[in-house]
Amino acid sequence: MQQEKVTSSTQESYDRVAAEYAERFLHEFDHKPFDRELLDRFAERVRGKGRVVDLGCGPGQVARYLHEQGVDAFGLDLSPAMLEQARQAHPGVEFRQGDMRSPDLPDNSLAGVAAFYSLIHIPRREVSTVVRRWRRAVQPGGLMLVAFHKGSEVVHREEWWDKPVSLDFAFFEPQEMEIYLRAGGFLIDEMHERPPYPEVEYPSQRVYIVARRPDLHPN
Ligand SMILES: C[S@@+](CC[C@H](N)C(=O)[O-])C[C@H]1O[C@@H](n2cnc3c(N)ncnc32)[C@H](O)[C@@H]1O
Repeated sequence: MQQEKVTSSTQESYDRVAAEYAERFLHEFDHKPFDRELLDRFAERVRGKGRVVDLGCGPGQVARYLHEQGVDAFGLDLSPAMLEQARQAHPGVEFRQGDMRSPDLPDNSLAGVAAFYSLIHIPRREVSTVVRRWRRAVQPGGLMLVAFHKGSEVVHREEWWDKPVSLDFAFFEPQEMEIYLRAGGFLIDEMHERPPYPEVEYPSQRVYIVARRPDLHPN
């Protein structure tokens, strides 16, 4: 019951800020060379191997970027208003509504998952369970790329760009997320940190982890 309330308030909150969020972040990769380089390398590894989901896609900039790199990417998000922004901005890319806590994709059907600033809305006690559910949908050898804000706090907001919201933003230490990804059945391939790009994004230290579902036949 409590969980349903949190889910609907997260959805309603993002519905309220969707238009402004899209305006601010749709073209953010133009100003984020580190992220582009990381996504380019991710694209190299998943291209031609199957579908890739942009989890908690918001206005869809990650799905669009991967699509432009020749990846069969689609977006998934809770918020219908965010999805509307994504569909309008990227007509050639598929966007679906769904809750990332309950993936409804066939086992072994994905080449990868990219979760940019979306696991931050999953209570930390649930993160490894959610990761494990996505692991089932990822092929052996497939990847999970996670981006998040570094820290240990949970920031609660009741207002965002003058709109009433109710949102918890969880910050994670890299080692904490590493534990969740390992507990969810992934191996860690890469871990990176960078300072925030001034005037481009929220001023938090950024962390990126590339994790891999172990191959059934490693050799
Ligand atoms: C901070 S935004 C990140 C959007 C985009 N990935 C980016 O990097 O700008 C978080 C997104 O996660 C979505 N979200 C939050 N909880 C979700 C859930 N349980 N299932 C699917 N999407 C969720 C929100 O609707 C929102 O669009």
